[in-house]
Amino acid sequence: MSKRIPVIAGNWKMNKTSTEAKQYVSELSGMVAGKQGVEIVLCPPATSLAAVSEMLGGSDIIVAAQNMHFENSGAYTGEISPAMLKDIGVTDVILGHSERRQYFCERDEDLEKKAVAAIEAGLRPILCVGETDAEREAGETEEKLRRQISTDLSGITAEQLPGIIIAYEPIWAIGTGKTATPQIAQEACSFIRGLLAELFGEEAAAAVRILYGGSVKPGNIGELMAEQDIDGALVGGACLSAADFAQIVDFQ
Ligand code: 13P
Repeated sequence: MSKRIPVIAGNWKMNKTSTEAKQYVSELSGMVAGKQGVEIVLCPPATSLAAVSEMLGGSDIIVAAQNMHFENSGAYTGEISPAMLKDIGVTDVILGHSERRQYFCERDEDLEKKAVAAIEAGLRPILCVGETDAEREAGETEEKLRRQISTDLSGITAEQLPGIIIAYEPIWAIGTGKTATPQIAQEACSFIRGLLAELFGEEAAAAVRILYGGSVKPGNIGELMAEQDIDGALVGGACLSAADFAQIVDFQ
């Protein structure tokens, strides 16, 4: 195991009303109370962020948004700004999830601006990258990861890099039950760390937490976490049950 502190993040996606969110947080808080040596991050939908953040104020559980705009205010109907997230106690933000790239046309050029805006606002980005099934079949995984990371992080300095979390989420493994084998996930995470070393230097790259995401469950978290370059997980479906998520948090 690496010396980097593991991060287990639960991406709720478009699930749970605010009422359900509060119920979940009170259940989960009891289950993970006193848990040391792992950072726990909850990523509720925008409508529950304020309530969840208020409930967790003073606890070690971190609250992340699932997306944000890169401007702090303006005529962008339906969008939420970095300043608005900060104001309600949110500290982290998922950027570039494949569902946002696929369904909401989020481009690497947008993510470059979002990464800089998040850092400037004092929010920690959780930047998602990953290849499709077709790209993996065509042997284009590394090229895709290189393109995403080099563009999305082009406004970031080596000093800022350790304050960013990367989530490697192969699109073919998301919501499919088809988890990447620990070896495939490790290979990609190791490639990402090598790429970060090339772009930002060895020291900064060694400090970055790289998470794996894609059909993570209580039954496979242990073998994934045993890999050298996997520092945690971004969990979708399995985080919706507080009991399952608590079990994933308890992987050690
Ligand atoms: P699943 O865990 O449901 O595969 O989702 C992964 C994911 O997209 C997390 O961001």
